[in-house]
Amino acid sequence: MINDKKVLFSAMQATGNLTLGNYLGALKNWTTLSDEYECFFAVADLHSITVRQDPAEFRKNARKLLTLFIAAGIDPEKNCIYYQSQVSAHAELAWILNCFTYMGELSRMTQFKDKSAKHADNINAGLFTYPALMAADILLYQADVVPVGKDQMQHLELTRDIAERFNAIYGDVFTIPEAYLGKAGAKIMSLQDPTKKMSKSDENANGSIYLMDDPDTIRRKFKRAVTDSEGAVRYSESQPGIMNLIDIYSTCTGKTAEEVEKEFEGQGYGVFKEAVGDAVVAVLEPLQKRFEELSKNKEYIDNCIKNNAEKAAYTATKTLRKVQKKVGFSEKIR
Ligand code: TRP
Repeated sequence: MINDKKVLFSAMQATGNLTLGNYLGALKNWTTLSDEYECFFAVADLHSITVRQDPAEFRKNARKLLTLFIAAGIDPEKNCIYYQSQVSAHAELAWILNCFTYMGELSRMTQFKDKSAKHADNINAGLFTYPALMAADILLYQADVVPVGKDQMQHLELTRDIAERFNAIYGDVFTIPEAYLGKAGAKIMSLQDPTKKMSKSDENANGSIYLMDDPDTIRRKFKRAVTDSEGAVRYSESQPGIMNLIDIYSTCTGKTAEEVEKEFEGQGYGVFKEAVGDAVVAVLEPLQKRFEELSKNKEYIDNCIKNNAEKAAYTATKTLRKVQKKVGFSEKIR
């Protein structure tokens, strides 16, 4: 507990262009959590170097992501928004937790298997121990809850195992985190293959709406979205393309799937797709404007970065010191 609130931690990587899926599925929901939780949201830049990055590009993208957090409506006064790499306790605790994580456990991680297949020329040790760093992220803040997508669930479970293992040896050091099961974020699928998640790394750019796509591009991509030949706007498993468009439309407008079906009863897909495009533009255009404005305000963003890194370090260091003492490191002489 911090300030009488439960603690929530999550993080996102700054690689690739964020998509509408990242926004509707995660970011948008993060904006409302600070009433109930003490929230920490990190730009997970330490994780990003498990894959080679171009330094200049990487730095720019990390700053963009942090700015986007704020543009999306996460208030940097009420939430702690920071770069993981600027709070050294993450790396320090990650090392310690590495020594409490088994090779067997790490070998079973499906993300490791996927990523090593994808980056066969660079299967580095960091890629392997990536989940121990994630555990450090979460446990440093004694997080009660962690909003994660399905793809990170296995890492969260491992975090719990590591925390329990550590606690069993040293006493109650870590809070055991749970998945945040609040209002589930919408799972947005590719517009070109609605059985696949909308992804930053889709080779087919028409499958994803990027947060910075201009209105014309957004409308065009929806026009081209893959549907079916049934011709009715119905929320049905047999029409995955239409189902995805209904999900997008309802998340953007706040209408239920039923209301959407009614609204477009007897109308063709053309009309519906246009409406979805308009609804998404209505959400993304103001977000883009806020982003542009914030990006120009260097001093404001710099201040947010500085203050929040200090705030994060304060909490993180408290946990780290406790852990260092528990494992038997000698106290620093001041
Ligand atoms: N690995 C996560 C991802 O790529 C990002 C992340 C890093 C994270 N540390 C975390 C998510 C801690 C939740 C909690 O999506």
